[in-house]
Amino acid sequence: MSPEDKKRIAAEAAIDFVRPDSIIGVGTGSTVNHFIDLVAEKMGNKIRAAVSSSEASSERLRGHGIRVVDLNEVGKLDLYVDGADESNSRLQLIKGGGGALTREKIVAAASAQFVCIADDSKLVEVLGAFPLPLEVIPMARELVARELRGLGADPRLRDGTITDNGNQILDLHGLKITDALDLETRINQITGVVCVGLFAHRPADVLLLGTDNGVVTHTAD
Ligand code: A5P
Repeated sequence: MSPEDKKRIAAEAAIDFVRPDSIIGVGTGSTVNHFIDLVAEKMGNKIRAAVSSSEASSERLRGHGIRVVDLNEVGKLDLYVDGADESNSRLQLIKGGGGALTREKIVAAASAQFVCIADDSKLVEVLGAFPLPLEVIPMARELVARELRGLGADPRLRDGTITDNGNQILDLHGLKITDALDLETRINQITGVVCVGLFAHRPADVLLLGTDNGVVTHTAD
């Protein structure tokens, strides 16, 4: 099965988590694009609205006639569906390959259940082969980069990328993340960091992985 087909079957499995008459949180990326198309096809007139984590996803949702609402207008969300760049067996994630990590983390934090959808290449033993994205206030970029070098990372500016929030992205190369909770805490303490794409304190609750043998459901170890 191609990676794209694996993404699609994982996205399809997430439809079972969507409750009629609910407002759902929607992430960003190519796997979520499948989810948006499928939710519109199968449940478009049954859900009330969506809270979106990026301008790109908002546009796609609206293109299907799904209302996009501001997180501030709604209470806690029942469900957030999003992809990932890497997951370990504890369902701690690296996210932000698409640059939408800050809004993704906000919507995940506001949701009772986080269902992650991905193809099976995303499940890894140790996080960090995928460079860890970090959103930074532009004037603090070099200050933050120096601190990160002290943590053993090799930060590289993602050239030409400005986030939906008007900030820049540093991609942290060379990390082997064996204690994701500790690293997330340390990075969060660096002044000038807006958000790091390490989802350890709020991991996924369920990982739906598209494989050659169909969708495999993981819950945290
Ligand atoms: C977006 O910023 C990311 O966090 C995505 O969720 C992640 O990059 C997965 O994207 P794909 O579904 O395109 O692999």
